[in-house]
Amino acid sequence: MNNRTYIEIVNGAPIEEPARQYYFMEQLKNVIQEKESTLGRKLVASVATFGCQMNAHDSEKIIGILREIGYEIVEDAKADFVLYNTCTVRENANLKVYGRLGHLKKLKEKNPNMMIALCGCMMQENVVIEKLKKSYRFVDLVFGTHNIFKLAELMFEAFNADKTVYDIWEDTTMIVENLPSVRKYSFKTGVNIMYGCNNFCSYCIVPYVRGRERSRKSEDIIKEIESLVKDGVVEIMLLGQNVNSYGKNLDENITFAGLLEKIEQIEGLERIRFMTSHPKDLSDELIEVMSKSKKICNHLHLPVQSGSTDILTKMNRRYTKEGYLELVKKIKDKNPDISLTTDIIVGFPGETEEDFLETMDIVKQVEYDSAYTFIYSKRTGTPAASYDNQVPDDIVKDRFDRLLKVVQDISAKRANMLEGTVQDVLVEEINDHDDELVTGRLSNNLLVHFKGDKDLIGKIVSVKLNECKGFYYFGEMINE
Ligand code: 5AD
Ligand code: SF4
Repeated sequence: MNNRTYIEIVNGAPIEEPARQYYFMEQLKNVIQEKESTLGRKLVASVATFGCQMNAHDSEKIIGILREIGYEIVEDAKADFVLYNTCTVRENANLKVYGRLGHLKKLKEKNPNMMIALCGCMMQENVVIEKLKKSYRFVDLVFGTHNIFKLAELMFEAFNADKTVYDIWEDTTMIVENLPSVRKYSFKTGVNIMYGCNNFCSYCIVPYVRGRERSRKSEDIIKEIESLVKDGVVEIMLLGQNVNSYGKNLDENITFAGLLEKIEQIEGLERIRFMTSHPKDLSDELIEVMSKSKKICNHLHLPVQSGSTDILTKMNRRYTKEGYLELVKKIKDKNPDISLTTDIIVGFPGETEEDFLETMDIVKQVEYDSAYTFIYSKRTGTPAASYDNQVPDDIVKDRFDRLLKVVQDISAKRANMLEGTVQDVLVEEINDHDDELVTGRLSNNLLVHFKGDKDLIGKIVSVKLNECKGFYYFGEMINE
């Protein structure tokens, strides 16, 4: 495209969103079609997602836009457009991306049509951008967490640029709705209810890369879910870094529990999940709503991070060990068979053996159904990165192994508890190893495999859990 046509197209774009993005999608359709006829084949794109459910959901939006403009989506990295949606919660995630970029460079040398794009949390860090500018110039497009909705416009720019296009926003109050999205599963999906985090736990980089908390209007959330349900969705996962503070920045007077009550009313919706809950903001009202609800799943992810009040204070978590245990008691009193899961960090700066034993103790007291255990990772720019007394690697590794053993023993015991019972199961897919079996999920999030065929996918059926195999079951469908 000559420079003049490019400028005319850009100047002709509407200002309002999402109309502006639909305009660029139309332009890109032409670009893609032209390329396809020159090459004599379809153009393909691949999206690799790192990190949490929020990223997974962002990738559904990215794939929606890529499909809309004409790409076929493939799993393979050998695509014409390769995008990495990155995570930076722990250093490992960053290292993985740099490693994979080395591989992509070689692929790009063989396929000059290839475009490489990077987005997500890692791109919100200055050190990363500096490194990319210096050593990864073959990347075509880089954007962050706040402007994913702008993908079409940025791709259009990248197609017409002869150097990397960077578009990183520090923060935003903008929430752009109603862009295309392609769900990984037809029957379940995530729904953002809020973005960002204001908690500034001292180890965590999320508030710096995802910006300040902002909630979506309840009306927009309800409309989105209603339209998803019309389209075949029966289970939704409400997403936010701290769903319990939903509504705080809105003009309307609404809490997370209030939002759940409204969502419960949506006819045709069968299951509601949500994550993540910060213990300091979990209200009695929420516990009450969960216990009354017919749709909210019997599962609560409640990150504890540490069992030592001392460490919790240094982490800026704003609860104590005792406070957390009281909360768990309240939750279990109202919802006795609830499945509780958690996140735990081992080796936070200054963690002593006594502190660690407090963590072991809280794990034993709560009896989590499962726990994600992480080795503390120092994140530049967070307060904890400059704390004294970083714990030596060998000690951290030893604690990590000891904790994992306890966590796994408890999980196995908890999983066993439903053996012999009949439970509602949402069928998700044909079993990977045996195509006469299907795999489904219980309300408490555990998996069960049983005889069935593809017609069951997306349906909720009754299954007798015959045998517990550690972290999953074998069962049989019961016709009611
Ligand atoms: N090091 C290790 N784990 C971390 N998490 C967040 N930041 C760090 C870090 N710097 C963990 C927390 C959080 C989960 C999503 O990731 O346990 O709950
Ligand atoms: Fe990070 Fe804490 Fe916010 Fe969770 S609540 S995203 S751990 S700062």
